[in-house]
Amino acid sequence: MMERPGSLKKIIKDFHSEMLRGLQNKKSSLKMLPAYIDRPLSSEKGRSFAIDLGGTNLRILEAGLKGKGRIVAFRQRQFSIKRELLSGGAEAFFDFIALSLKSFLEEKSKLAKNMKLGFTFSFPMLQTGIASGRLIHWTKEFSVRSVTGKDVVNLFNAALIRKGLKGIKIVALLNDTVATLIARSYKDKNCDIALILGTGTNACYYDRTRQGIINIEWGSFNKLPRTVYDLELDKSTDNPGEQTLEKMVSGRYLGRIARLTLKGLGLNIPGLETEYLSGIELDSSKNLLRVKARLKSLGLAKSSLEERKLVKDVCLLVSLRAARIVAASLAAVIMHIDKNLSRRHSIAIDGSLYQRHPWFSRNIKLTLKEIFGKKAAKIKLVLTKNGSSQGAAIAAAVASKCKI
Ligand code: BGC
Repeated sequence: MMERPGSLKKIIKDFHSEMLRGLQNKKSSLKMLPAYIDRPLSSEKGRSFAIDLGGTNLRILEAGLKGKGRIVAFRQRQFSIKRELLSGGAEAFFDFIALSLKSFLEEKSKLAKNMKLGFTFSFPMLQTGIASGRLIHWTKEFSVRSVTGKDVVNLFNAALIRKGLKGIKIVALLNDTVATLIARSYKDKNCDIALILGTGTNACYYDRTRQGIINIEWGSFNKLPRTVYDLELDKSTDNPGEQTLEKMVSGRYLGRIARLTLKGLGLNIPGLETEYLSGIELDSSKNLLRVKARLKSLGLAKSSLEERKLVKDVCLLVSLRAARIVAASLAAVIMHIDKNLSRRHSIAIDGSLYQRHPWFSRNIKLTLKEIFGKKAAKIKLVLTKNGSSQGAAIAAAVASKCKI
């Protein structure tokens, strides 16, 4: 029987067949990239460092691994990346990362000797080993020049040398989903899938048959039915035709979809951003006073109750659709690794959208129930805050034990 386009069943089926094609190196919108790092044993101990780059902030972490799955953050600093760096040259960009590290180490310069670093780089990369990877293409509207196709560890090492930082070695390079999986796996043996729902979106899973972690790069899945507003949004981005799922799901785009949809329905609210969706959707007052205040702050001084209802409904639908796409894609991954859902699965999740949106997590859970029925109880969604930094610190410890 043919499934209805856009139905959960159809998404699951298409997603799974794209996964299989990707794994067989056939043409697929899912890249299915091997990650070249083992899951931790939980016994790793010692001081470890991480650099985490993925959104508009760069994070640096000094952590202590205590064994038995315990990790403590000794120091952590966040550096905001200036917009112009995101579309400038590679040298300036990597110099900024090196200088941030230098400033982090300022008080403790002795640490720089023989320092082993884990580097989370939250973009699609083709890895050939644990500490090397070439950027396939930028996403999330990053467009730093002359990085695509190059090894980001080499670019970073060159910047370290330019800035006089010797003795620092990147021993593990990993995607943020992979880092999140590692962070949760350090203390939870059931963790075999990780998701990021933030500015961008993606997932990875532990493949038992291949004995390794696979970064799906699910943001580029392109077998979803799109509305005229999705198409319009796509055209306005700097990578039209790419990252189709990401543009329907992630924080970078949800506000824009709501805005374009409302505009199509006759209501123009140019300032509507993803961060306002939560407040709008949470307004349960009879006259939608919170929505009214938000619209006022966005330049719509007078709004009718009808208009406010429309705004709330559109926001609810946009985020509900996103959560259902996530759940269906997740279901395909679960079915791929455990056909009959016979084991327990902890799904580590990090990212601002997941953390801040009031219904996202609930909507994913409800949809998983719709798909798996009672068996959905075997699936646990676990918020894994700072997973992408902590995972890199743990990965550095794991990698230091391996020959590289
Ligand atoms: C990137 C992924 C990343 C995700 C979440 C996407 O745009 O392609 O590599 O994991 O964002 O940060």
